[in-house]
Amino acid sequence: MEQLIFRPRLHSFDTPEAFADAFELGENDLVLTLRSVFEGRFDVKKHPVQTIFLGDYGKGEPTDRVVNEVIRETAKHRYRRIIGIGGGSVLDTAKVLAVSGGRDTDTLYDSGEPLSRTVSLVLVPTTCGTGSEVTNIAIMTREKLGTKMGLTGEATYADDAVLIPALLKSIPFSVFATSSIDALVHAVESALSPNATPFSRTLSYEAMTQILSSYRLLLKKGKEHLPEWTDRFLFASTLAGLAFGTAGCAAVHAMSYPLSGVYHVAHGESNYAMFTGVLKMYQKIKSDGEIAELNNRLAVLLDCRTDAVYDELEALLNQLLPKKALHEYGVKEEELPLFAENVIQTQQRLMKNSFVPLDSEKVLEIYRSLY
Ligand SMILES: [Fe+2]
Repeated sequence: MEQLIFRPRLHSFDTPEAFADAFELGENDLVLTLRSVFEGRFDVKKHPVQTIFLGDYGKGEPTDRVVNEVIRETAKHRYRRIIGIGGGSVLDTAKVLAVSGGRDTDTLYDSGEPLSRTVSLVLVPTTCGTGSEVTNIAIMTREKLGTKMGLTGEATYADDAVLIPALLKSIPFSVFATSSIDALVHAVESALSPNATPFSRTLSYEAMTQILSSYRLLLKKGKEHLPEWTDRFLFASTLAGLAFGTAGCAAVHAMSYPLSGVYHVAHGESNYAMFTGVLKMYQKIKSDGEIAELNNRLAVLLDCRTDAVYDELEALLNQLLPKKALHEYGVKEEELPLFAENVIQTQQRLMKNSFVPLDSEKVLEIYRSLY
């Protein structure tokens, strides 16, 4: 059994210029990014790359319609390397571009043909959440199916993942909150996954420790001190990415996708809406095994009793991002059985990594408890 899936070469640079020089960015590179990330940070006179700005095609997290527009635009360019610089939306779209070969997203998802690519792929995260730079998962909303789905294959791993903490220094607090909570969920879900290994669990728990201890310090010192901590959150999110890249994410992610896909809730926020509800259900079904280890570790990190860890966790996270009930997003009670069915039908890739198996009745029970 492969103990730790570690595909891209992992680099870190102090500044965007140091990265651009070391990777010799130039005219054979197609950079997929956002204007707010790229402009003022990269010198196109010195490094004359081609650029596509994802925000010009649609706001928020990528849908298949937006990705297909970008695929058509990309066909007008000639390049040998794709460089994604941005949050999860940009990195995931860059992965799809790298393997599309001009094919649209329906073909990529549904043809069953193995994915391949003829261009190099470099991913540079500018949030501290998805870990997408080290995983092979590209997520997008499939509008016809009313949910998000992951596209995966050996070819969707980047060749190089590049961490540049300086790119996160001015991250908006709301983006920091949702992305770092996503990283925390990755750490917890991968720790509890039946497919975890001793190596992936070490990374899961280290990421959890770094994220939770940094949250507590940050909240004690004041949110304006965030730039002092972004390095730790960035590295922790990559650790969590490596952990779930091996062990998998599970029911929290699976159950978040109908909410974020239909109601356009940010990925991390949508995960948070499900997070403690899923943990409480796991605990109710099976209170021993890895969840007991998780609870012990959370009790130390949160300085509380083991039977209070989920409530304490929620109290801490609420200071970063107030948790909302599902009805506050506009979800209607009669939609919950449809959400549950959708999860069972389309998210088995994730559900198989749940700490204990959850059928549609259990999933519906969790949704109702969060409604
Ligand atoms: Fe995630």
